[in-house]
Amino acid sequence: VERLIPKKKITCYLLYCISTAVIGSLQFGYNTGVINAPEQKLRRFFHNVSLDRYGEPFSPGANTMVWSVAVAIFSVGGMIGSFSVGALVNKFGRRKSMLLSNVLALLGAGLMGLSTVSRSFEMVIIGRLIIGCFCGLCTGLTPMYVGEISPTALRGAFGTLHQLGVVIGILVAQIFGLEFLLGSDTLWPLLLALTAFPAIVQSIMLPFCPESPRYLLIVLNQEEEAQKALVRLRGCEDVSDDIQEMKEEGMRMAMEKKVTIPELFRYPAYRQPIIIAIVLQLSQQLSGINAVFYYSTGIFATAGVTQPIYATIGAGVVNTVFTVVSLFLVERAGRRTLHLIGLAGMAVCALLMTISLSLQKVNKSLSYMAIVAVFGFVASFEMGPGPIPWFIVAELFSQGPRPAAIAVSGFSNWTANFLVGLGFPKLEELCGPYVFIIFMILLIIFFIFTFLRVPETKGRTFDDIAQAFAASASSPSHSSVPEGVPVPESKGAPPTSPTE
Ligand code: GLC
Repeated sequence: VERLIPKKKITCYLLYCISTAVIGSLQFGYNTGVINAPEQKLRRFFHNVSLDRYGEPFSPGANTMVWSVAVAIFSVGGMIGSFSVGALVNKFGRRKSMLLSNVLALLGAGLMGLSTVSRSFEMVIIGRLIIGCFCGLCTGLTPMYVGEISPTALRGAFGTLHQLGVVIGILVAQIFGLEFLLGSDTLWPLLLALTAFPAIVQSIMLPFCPESPRYLLIVLNQEEEAQKALVRLRGCEDVSDDIQEMKEEGMRMAMEKKVTIPELFRYPAYRQPIIIAIVLQLSQQLSGINAVFYYSTGIFATAGVTQPIYATIGAGVVNTVFTVVSLFLVERAGRRTLHLIGLAGMAVCALLMTISLSLQKVNKSLSYMAIVAVFGFVASFEMGPGPIPWFIVAELFSQGPRPAAIAVSGFSNWTANFLVGLGFPKLEELCGPYVFIIFMILLIIFFIFTFLRVPETKGRTFDDIAQAFAASASSPSHSSVPEGVPVPESKGAPPTSPTE
């Protein structure tokens, strides 16, 4: 069915609400990037605590162990947090969940910030775990809320703002982490605790944002409230288009029952989109992006770059610029095309990185090629694989299964993130300069999958997208849904009440 795409209307209030939500994205980015720079200072702190407490310093092995745990436990927290998103939003709604999550930010920040005065490295570790949980929640809550309040025609652009928040957060953390700013021996606890500040700002801003109108109407059946929220968000009295579209979605699914995680895999209409959602998350993390963001300074040093820390900040800048480029392209070029271009670009750059790392000893000037290759790798990532997986999950599912789907895909993302973060140093030891060949092969596999299975979602309503999957699940060929294929009216919609 040809649907009229509502006119693009951006009101100040909509921007206010979206900005409030993407503070969560900023938090995720900041805490991802913040631990890199002060590594030596933290290690020194662990050393001193052990000396004070046990009369002897940790052995180098034990020190590395404590350090790795402090780094990696963040992703463990992320897995826990992202997995809890579904249960939380079903109980408290979107807005209140965001508000509640900030308690974790304050708690984590307090623990890390007071760790030196308390002479406790355990507080750093527990703080990182709690902050990880908080960030796991952010990676589900922000894209969900933003996707649900955005007008259809701008859902991709606004969805990309989540990633923009992430990359700005990383960049800010890289800059604040410089030795002469907050990355010093005395100030690093403040650097880690700074995450409390955006949490407070967001908590002040949130009460002025509405609950998601989709949640109000489709889940709580509060039409009047939903209408009020929409009138403010859209800036016009007539929001019948939006209401109509939500009602259709809600009706088709018979007041969309909540869908549990096992049900996502059991029903054919959900199985195809959940597989796509998971593979897209894996394509984001197993592209090797965080091998760069966690270890770039080391990679640059190996490639013979003389000021590696500034090359790392350069990567952060390229990262931010290209997210902005993607923001402007995503509603024109579409999600699928940009994701494909990004994966292909990353694969080429992974090859260039391998060449420059392996020939570095023979030709010193290749260190420039390494910088270009890393920058190209990061730029390609932000064209598609960075922003798209985060917001496309909200698009691939309708109201009922959305929370469960966001939980499952967030969990997959964080698990893969954890594996790369933990495994990369070992892989590098084993493969030397050829380590990026592994990512190149994975990127090619993800390219083929995206080409064959991922549909275009640009400009389509949530309902259209869900129906297309339902229709293809009930067709014998089980084909994917190629771009532009007209969607049959209501054939093969998912079971009306999958919980029964
Ligand atoms: C994405 C990834 C995150 C990564 C970041 C880099 O948001 O989820 O893990 O660090 O992009 O920009």
